Amino acid sequence: MQRLMVTGGAGFIGSNFTRYMLEKYPDYFIVVYDKLTYAGRRENLQDVAERFGDRYAFVQGDICDAKQVEQTITDYKLDTIVNFAAETHVDRSLTEPGSFIQTDVYGTYVLLEAAKTHQLERYHQVSTDEVYGQVLTGRSAETDPYEPRSPYSASKTAGDLMTLAYHASWGLPVTITRGANNVGPYQYPEKVVPLFATNAIDDQPLPVYGDGLQVRDYQYVLDHCEGIDVVLHRGKLGEIYNVGTGAEMTNIEMTRIVLATLGKPESLIKHVADRPGHDRRYALDVSKLRALGWKCHLTCAEAVAKTVRWYAENEAWWRPIKSGDLYKQYYERQYEKRLKAS
Ligand code: NAD
Ligand code: DAU
Repeated sequence: MQRLMVTGGAGFIGSNFTRYMLEKYPDYFIVVYDKLTYAGRRENLQDVAERFGDRYAFVQGDICDAKQVEQTITDYKLDTIVNFAAETHVDRSLTEPGSFIQTDVYGTYVLLEAAKTHQLERYHQVSTDEVYGQVLTGRSAETDPYEPRSPYSASKTAGDLMTLAYHASWGLPVTITRGANNVGPYQYPEKVVPLFATNAIDDQPLPVYGDGLQVRDYQYVLDHCEGIDVVLHRGKLGEIYNVGTGAEMTNIEMTRIVLATLGKPESLIKHVADRPGHDRRYALDVSKLRALGWKCHLTCAEAVAKTVRWYAENEAWWRPIKSGDLYKQYYERQYEKRLKAS
């Protein structure tokens, strides 16, 4: 495993993973294969292209395009796929579920088929704790049943099942990781932490859904990347591994950390209409991954505060996104009525 196709590598976690792997493994070659949807940006990899030009290539392409996927594998003699490519925002899955089914289900099938045809050494599927559904008590273990409740988590569940089916049916060497909520640099400011950090910097309201007592495990993105790395190198084929801090916090606690880090007042908090079908709590049991020698470095509170500081120091990255028409239209659609009614 030395020549990786990182699909969705121009997005948030994929770009962090690409940088992390190229820094750690001097013999690795990585092709980022990405459609560049609204969430994917070449800028996320600008430093990677400059620092690792001879070990890194970028191909703009759709994972649903079998011909281009296969051509890329052949052209670059790739031996591994790490699949980050997905539609990822739960709120968008409630208004436009079709693109989630297309990319997260059909696209995963296309990649699995290519991995089988080209007899790749590994196919790794980057999945999510959302496939377990909401967990009101206890912690989800990898053996727990799937109970997805949003079009996003249902699509990701189908991707997981297809991955396991290729292992059971044809012995494809697959692994799966299920990550908790990631925070860190280059996350598109539709997700809650970058949205709240950038709104607070501009003294704009922070729209907390419902009572804000929903529970999430906010993990730092590099802890997640390290978990995927460990599974790629030490994970057992056909197995699933949870990745998270193993702790959690409520959204209102997270919001207070965002405000305190920036020295902004709590009067910016606005409770707005809740997300339909909002999962109340996710919580992962991460002992299986820990047994492989992985450990998480940052707590939820440290991860959120570090992320907020990155957004405060990197306005040049997010201001062009937030001032664009596409983002403004999305924000208006998603929040205008809610904020007026609050
Ligand atoms: P993101 O939305 O920031 O990035 C997704 C990337 O995929 C973008 O670069 C986009 O251009 C690309 N993409 C989308 N459709 C594509 C297609 N059809 N073909 C090729 N590329 C396409 O997402 P993220 O937050 O970095 O998440 C990456 C992966 O990790 C996803 O599979 C997601 O389900 C999973 N995950 C995310 C989190 C989280 O908290 N963000 C947690 C656990 C798991
Ligand atoms: O748990 C892993 C998942 O985490 C990933 O699989 C998804 O790709 C990723 O988007 C994320 O899903 P969430 O729905 O948990 O993340 P989001 O940032 O959208 O919301 C986090 C919490 O904050 C959730 O309880 C909803 C709440 N929220 C979100 C937004 C955008 C608000 O209160 N207000 C908001 O404006």
